[in-house]
Amino acid sequence: MTFRYIGSKARVVEAIMRCVGAPDGGRFVDAFCGTGAVAIAASRAGWPVHVNDHLQSASLTAFARLTSREKAPFRHFGGYEGALEALNKAPERQGFIWREYSPASGRHCGITRLYFTEPNACRIDGIRSAIRTWSDEGRLQSREQALLIADLMGAANKVANTAGTYGCFLSRWQRQSEEALVLEPRELPERLPPSTMEVGDVRGVECRSEDTVYLDPPYTKRQYAAYYHILETIALGDEPEVEGVCGIRPWRHIASDYCYRTRAVRALTDLVAALPARRILLSYSTDGHVPLDLLVEAMECSGRVSLHHLGEIGRYRPNQAASAGAAAVGEVLIAVDRPAASSKAAA
Ligand SMILES: C[S@@+](CC[C@H](N)C(=O)[O-])C[C@H]1O[C@@H](n2cnc3c(N)ncnc32)[C@H](O)[C@@H]1O
Repeated sequence: MTFRYIGSKARVVEAIMRCVGAPDGGRFVDAFCGTGAVAIAASRAGWPVHVNDHLQSASLTAFARLTSREKAPFRHFGGYEGALEALNKAPERQGFIWREYSPASGRHCGITRLYFTEPNACRIDGIRSAIRTWSDEGRLQSREQALLIADLMGAANKVANTAGTYGCFLSRWQRQSEEALVLEPRELPERLPPSTMEVGDVRGVECRSEDTVYLDPPYTKRQYAAYYHILETIALGDEPEVEGVCGIRPWRHIASDYCYRTRAVRALTDLVAALPARRILLSYSTDGHVPLDLLVEAMECSGRVSLHHLGEIGRYRPNQAASAGAAAVGEVLIAVDRPAASSKAAA
């Protein structure tokens, strides 16, 4: 299994940063942050960063990447590595992940789901429960809690028996899914610029006129809430009613408008028009269901538009139909500049 975040910009982030440029006094707002690949590049370039996604799992993943040692001292555990060491020894638990997403699900609901082996599912439940307890006892700051949950999601990704997303599981165990789940420390920089996070629909994202807003919406019908449902459950630590062979948590209440061809252009036009920021950078993939010229025409109603071609990246191929299409996706950045936005706000 290779964990795959659909639409991740990890492979074009340098080209994006050339368009973003140096910090200019405002923040860099990554409003559909996903994995935070662009947010962390902006932070390393010196921007104060705000991340948002409608999935808690995505916002936490991105926020964790923006964390420095200074911001996460883990005083109650003698440091970050000490906290991970303690979590790796947390007692295993037969909890929700074990009940719904390991072969134990066959005994509980009659559908045998092979997302995780029983021991690994019990480790996920045990570690998630320990993080909650530490947090309830006041032994973790919220930033430290976010980092540990993100580390747990990362460790779960390494042993998940999937083809890259959680839309379905594989019918036979892959070698890596039979290995024991272990939390591994990431490299934490000593210091990074300030950062904040939010979880919610992009239309409510907290943003100011002096900010640069980066928008990387979905451009295909694949709903992230369904494709990454187990990560969302780990992030939230809840026990939803799940359904179907794959045990998907309820997601339709946050179905994204941008995933529907008929709604996407309108939704993006309204979004850009409503954002108060003076500079908006909109990522576009040729893979998507929206024609570029239509989108550019719509953006011209909001400000001065310029196009930046970022290069090509390999296509996500979940099935044979997708494999039959073009091998590469062209990545474009549509910049919308509205100097009037800042003067209007200042007036
Ligand atoms: C193309 S991905 C972003 C990828 C990201 N730039 C990266 O490099 O990892 C789109 C993201 O938008 C989020 N999303 C979809 N609809 C949303 C909405 N209405 N409000 C906020 N986030 C949304 C998805 O959960 C997903 O994480």
